[in-house]
This record gives sequence, C-alpha cells and structure tokens, in this order.
Amino acid sequence: MQEKESKPFTKKFKKNYTVSIKLPYFLESPLKREKTPMKYIIGNWKMNLSLKQAEALTLGIIQFLKETPPSSFSCMIAPPFPFLERLHTLITHEKDLLSLAAQDISAHEKGAFTGEVSASHLKEVGVKAALIGHSERRLYHKETEPLLRQKILQCLSHDLIPVLCLGESLEIRRASKTVPFVLNQLHEMCQALQEMLISKPSSSPPLMIAYEPLWAIGTGCIPSLDEIEDVHNALSIALKTLFPKHIIPLLYGGSVTPLNSSEILSLPHVDGALVGGASLSLETFLPLLSSASLVNR
Ligand code: 13P
Repeated sequence: MQEKESKPFTKKFKKNYTVSIKLPYFLESPLKREKTPMKYIIGNWKMNLSLKQAEALTLGIIQFLKETPPSSFSCMIAPPFPFLERLHTLITHEKDLLSLAAQDISAHEKGAFTGEVSASHLKEVGVKAALIGHSERRLYHKETEPLLRQKILQCLSHDLIPVLCLGESLEIRRASKTVPFVLNQLHEMCQALQEMLISKPSSSPPLMIAYEPLWAIGTGCIPSLDEIEDVHNALSIALKTLFPKHIIPLLYGGSVTPLNSSEILSLPHVDGALVGGASLSLETFLPLLSSASLVNR
C-alpha cells in the first residue's frame, strides 16, 4: 500500500517566526489541539526548606486539596531527595491528590556512580515523575543532550514521567530565535525516543514538557502572554507531529506567582505551571493552586 504524501505545514507566529513542519498525512487539522483534561501544577522546591518546613508545607497542600473540587487539576511537589521518603509516607493515603516528582535522576541503571540517585531508588519512595534538563542542571552541571536522553530513557523504562525542561537564554530571546531554538531542543530530545514514547499507552502522558525561559527563572520577569502562547503553540504542533496519539501536557515555568497564574493558565496552549519560588510557602502556593482550579478546560 502506498502511503499518502505528507504536506509541509507552515505557520506564521505573532513575533514573525515562521516554522515549517512536515506533518504526517493523518493529521488533518494540525492546529486543532486536544486539551489536557486538567491543569498540572508542579512545585519545584529546588535546594530549599528544612524537613520540618517541608512536612508542614505538604500537610497544608493536602488540606487544601481535600477541600478543592477533585480532578480540576493535578498537583505534584519536587522536594530535595532526602525528604522524598518521609513525604511519601505523609501522603500515602492521599496519592490521588498529591504526587511526588524528583528534581533529577541518574542516567545510569545502577553501579559506581557516587552521589547519584537511580530510577529504581525513586520508584521505591513513590516518585511518579522526574524533572529532566532543568536549566540549572544544564548550566551548573554541564548536562548535555546525550546525557538527558539517557535520563529520559531511565524514566521511561521505570514508568516514571519525564518532565523535560526547555528554554532559551536572554540572548536568544533578543535575537528573536526563541521558537526555532526551543523546537530544536525538543527534537534533539524526542526524535531518538519517539518509538519508545509512542509505545506507551495513550491514556496517560508518557512525557511532560516545561517551557522555562532561562531569563524568567527567579527574576520576576516573564514573557508577554502572546510570547508564551507563541512558543507553546509551536511546541504543541511539534508534539502532535511527534506523538499523534498522545496529549502531552505543556507547562510554563519562570516567575509564576499567584498574581500572574490565572492569566498564564488561561492561555489555550498552557496546560500547567512549573513553579519555583512561589511553591515554597502556603501563602503563595495555595492561591496559585486555587487559580488553577478555577481555569476552565
Ligand atoms: P521560579 O518560579 O522561582 O522563577 O522558578 C522557576 C523554576 O525554575 C521552576 O523549575
């Protein structure tokens, strides 16, 4: 049987980027995006909080989630490694409300890798997802794309959801090269893993993407809503091409606070947020979760 020829599809974005993507023939309407059934909020605690503070924060989040309509959004926290087991015990009866993510994962299965934490270690303490390629790891630990691909593979072979972080520097943003740069980062990561990702059941996301412009992390500066929407729109087209059967959640990260979360989460191609600073206290994280629960899908 002869395959139908796929047609190249070109989209013009608001900031004068033009992206040309060769779509598979079975994608009739490339821009029609299925929305995720809910919003995803991940709190990345980075290297912050004491164990006591982490416990209090977790209990406060659980209390809030119990009082919030179920299934309007999904919440995860990514605490420092040593707290995972304790927090896993704390949320044992609340697994439907709150899950755990790791801030990183080893690229190796096991062995002589001092200081590293493997996928099976993470599974043992109830972790569901792992951040991959956060810009702080790419920058301070010189993580390269081949290494990140190995980390994604580790996640996939242990049934953990990789949350792949992408994002441009200020220089790239100023040169108006954000969309091609981020698409390239995505393709570098996903093309090699496409088969493995595609074989995952379409009922749950095999992967999540977090778009985090480097210059927005911890600075209080965020792109305009149009700029966020442009990048997410481009990523969603590329993801639909790579993984036609799956709905891959696309999160935005970088200075998300309760003051801007409603607007950002209301954007059509934003399925959630990866939150740093504002996830460290109940005063900021709960209003942010509340805004996620109010956004209509
Ligand atoms: P901030 O929300 O503090 O800007 O951090 C974002 C981030 O890096 C989340 O991974």
